[in-house]
Amino acid sequence: MCGIVGILGKEPVSGQLLEALKRLEYRGYDSAGVATVENGELGRRRAEGKLHNLEARLSDDPLMGRLGIGHTRWATHGAPTEANAHPHMTTRVSVVHNGIIENFKQLRSELESAGVEFSTDTDTEVIAHLVSREMDAGHDPAVAVQHALGQLEGAFALAFIFKDHDNLMIAARQGSPLAVGYGDGEMYLGSDAIALAPFTDTISYLEDGDWVVMTREGLAIRDRQGAAVERPLQKSVASALMVDKGNHRHFMAKEIHEQPEMVGHTLANFIDFANSRVQLPDMPFEFSSLDRISISACGTAYFAGLVAKYWFEKLARLPVEIDVASEFRYRDVPMEAGGLSLFISQSGETADTLAALRYCREQGQTIVSIVNVRESSIERDSDAVLPTLAGPEIGVASTKAFTCQLSVLACLAIAAGRARGTLSEETEIELVDALSEVPRHMSAILRDGRTYDALAHSLAKASDVLYLGRGVNYPIALEGALKLKEISYIHAEGYAAGELKHGPIALIDETMPVVVVAPRDAMFEKTLSNVQEAAARGGRIVFLSDAEEKAAGCDLMAAIKLPAVHSFTTPLIYALPMQLIAYHTAVFLGTDVDQPRNLAKSVTVE
Ligand code: AGP
Repeated sequence: MCGIVGILGKEPVSGQLLEALKRLEYRGYDSAGVATVENGELGRRRAEGKLHNLEARLSDDPLMGRLGIGHTRWATHGAPTEANAHPHMTTRVSVVHNGIIENFKQLRSELESAGVEFSTDTDTEVIAHLVSREMDAGHDPAVAVQHALGQLEGAFALAFIFKDHDNLMIAARQGSPLAVGYGDGEMYLGSDAIALAPFTDTISYLEDGDWVVMTREGLAIRDRQGAAVERPLQKSVASALMVDKGNHRHFMAKEIHEQPEMVGHTLANFIDFANSRVQLPDMPFEFSSLDRISISACGTAYFAGLVAKYWFEKLARLPVEIDVASEFRYRDVPMEAGGLSLFISQSGETADTLAALRYCREQGQTIVSIVNVRESSIERDSDAVLPTLAGPEIGVASTKAFTCQLSVLACLAIAAGRARGTLSEETEIELVDALSEVPRHMSAILRDGRTYDALAHSLAKASDVLYLGRGVNYPIALEGALKLKEISYIHAEGYAAGELKHGPIALIDETMPVVVVAPRDAMFEKTLSNVQEAAARGGRIVFLSDAEEKAAGCDLMAAIKLPAVHSFTTPLIYALPMQLIAYHTAVFLGTDVDQPRNLAKSVTVE
């Protein structure tokens, strides 16, 4: 995750750009840079490391332009060097970028075949050359950017400034957040409202697919088809301390919609996208010497661990012992010293998980934790941490932390398979490429909010709901049931679909909605049989699949069409409809979505 900012000012802007970048440092800080336009000329200053290095660079060699863009980087493609720091530029355009361009390798080779020479390893430089090439073809900056955007695949936010244009800035949003700010004869752009707080509290949030042409006098927003669109002006309450809801009604909604960006950033922490390989930091254990892994966590984090059990056992042939921490800590589990124990926790403060961790420490285990809140108790008590870079998660119902946990665990399972010789290099590349497409697929799902409103109205009348899933998606059914019950207070139960006939089918009648996770994977036909068994007894089926709804072979209460993805990534993809079904049902019922009754964000008591 990176931070981008842009200012069309009345005075030299480099100081304001730095101030905005300081407010975005939580997004990444391995290098930074600014570019400005002064009397039509593009100028740029960049520095490796923390922002104060860039500040020193600007003090030694100032930029006086009144229009500029800035970037604080968390490296995804290319090492965190000055040469790879943003802004990237050609003689005609300078650009800053937050996100991942999935098809950059193909675009780069096309440009190189056309004689373009690259000076960095980044995906962002490809964008600068695409726009430049369009301008060389005679297009004005707006048309050049629109044509370039049409060639990009991935989740990204971009800001451009141009040679010979002292009053023009263009930006685009696809999957990563971007806000525009309105000043007195000035205009602003930032990854979030926090960055713009020193300059204005009047902002608009761009929607996915929007791109905007800005001058000091105003702006024109267009959608991905080029049609003019309006985005409401609102008063931001952001400040350096306060995370705000953006343009969402609840923190949970904001955090659901942040997933393309946060999952992309978390994946980038462990994946070399240029070579489609997993790159873990040094770990205090060797996968090849392990004969099993133990995993312990609570609630949603536990369900992430359950998914990982399927991945470790399938990809690395590594048995996994997993239990909820409140049970694990009292079971007196026999453990051979030198084993590996994994702990998963968003808050890093869950008492039961911490107690289970301490039990494993006493049993001579190597302790590795997957946490979202850094320097938390669980991290401090671990031998190593693999952070989920989800950013602050305020809503009590965990959403983006969950898919970021899955992202870390997916990379870990691939690394385990490679280390144990049970996963080929070709399969690693296949799985990593599948992971790199997840942010884009998530963005596509999140653009389809209307499906859930209608379904929510129907579910809200239910007193019990069943969730079914098989294999690696059985834990996703469990997670879906937890999401619904914890924020809408409707009783819900997740079940392995194959278990339906061993009891729960007695519950089913025409009052019982049955939500079925049914990706077209190896168990799809088996799951369809379960769907028909439930429907035959009056069950009202909510069918989640990449298959057409007629494949269900029965009448459906609702069908939610999802992208066809690699079976490996279905848990990350199907987690989103689980969250959206619960969210929209709770909103319809009027419960306190962000702070549901009886719950707390971090359960620090036993
Ligand atoms: C998830 O939506 C719940 N809020 C809850 O189950 C949560 O996952 C659990 O309490 C664990 O919290 P942690 O991840 O902070 O350890």
